[in-house]
Amino acid sequence: MTELYTTHAELYDAAFDWDVSDQVTAIVGFSGLELGRVLEPMCGSGRLLRGFAAAGFSTVGIDQSAQMLALARAHYERSGFTGEWLQADVADFDLNEGCELAVCPVNSLAHLATATTMKSHLNAVSRNLYSGCSYWIQLDLKQPEHIGQAEEWEFEYQGATLLSEWACTGAHDGMETHISRIVFPDGRVVEESYDMKVWSYEQFTRVLAATPFELSGAYTGSNFTPLAIDSSLDGQHVFWQQLVKQA
Ligand SMILES: C[S@@+](CC[C@H](N)C(=O)[O-])C[C@H]1O[C@@H](n2cnc3c(N)ncnc32)[C@H](O)[C@@H]1O
Repeated sequence: MTELYTTHAELYDAAFDWDVSDQVTAIVGFSGLELGRVLEPMCGSGRLLRGFAAAGFSTVGIDQSAQMLALARAHYERSGFTGEWLQADVADFDLNEGCELAVCPVNSLAHLATATTMKSHLNAVSRNLYSGCSYWIQLDLKQPEHIGQAEEWEFEYQGATLLSEWACTGAHDGMETHISRIVFPDGRVVEESYDMKVWSYEQFTRVLAATPFELSGAYTGSNFTPLAIDSSLDGQHVFWQQLVKQA
């Protein structure tokens, strides 16, 4: 597991902290839900789940990182929410109770390094989701020519303004190399490099076809403008896919 999710989990939590209420409203609306139980595999410190809790949903978050789950619990306590947390590998898990919705944002699923692990994960989510219900994921799809993006943004941490930089620096054997850097005002840097799996539309839909899920919608990440469901999704960045569990 990368240190960004363990030793430096507090920095991750501060850097990835933005309002999610519009995303929650859109996902709930497109899913035809009013209330229910929401699962977030790879929930981290619970940024998106908190938005569902604020909207009245009950929530269950799964993550491998004890530090991330501790931050998620602390956020919930401060907001007066109750939530369920499970420290587990999302490649295979079972819950005591089914869910009406599942979500997994910001390309976390690219941490699953093989088609076998992705299929196992999708089947685990499916086992814990009622038929007809949706799993909303953000998983970039791309061809090799789309590799090589970079982003940076400022965030507040303990009264100081820090810079978060992220870049994809290359690819090998179906994996991309990513570098995350956090720069403190005094010049101190926390930097980490890790590999993420590259998925094309063709590769991902082939795995989906071996699970109970169907890709029934695709939407831009910013304002949920509908996108065509075909190979033109290769190259879309941080967009939403709505996977619906078939009966
Ligand atoms: C990019 S962060 C996303 C966190 C959160 N979903 C968010 O939107 O801020 C990815 C998270 O996935 C978790 N993770 C990575 N691989 C995992 C696995 N196989 N099983 C469970 N959690 C995993 C990490 O610990 C980390 O918290």
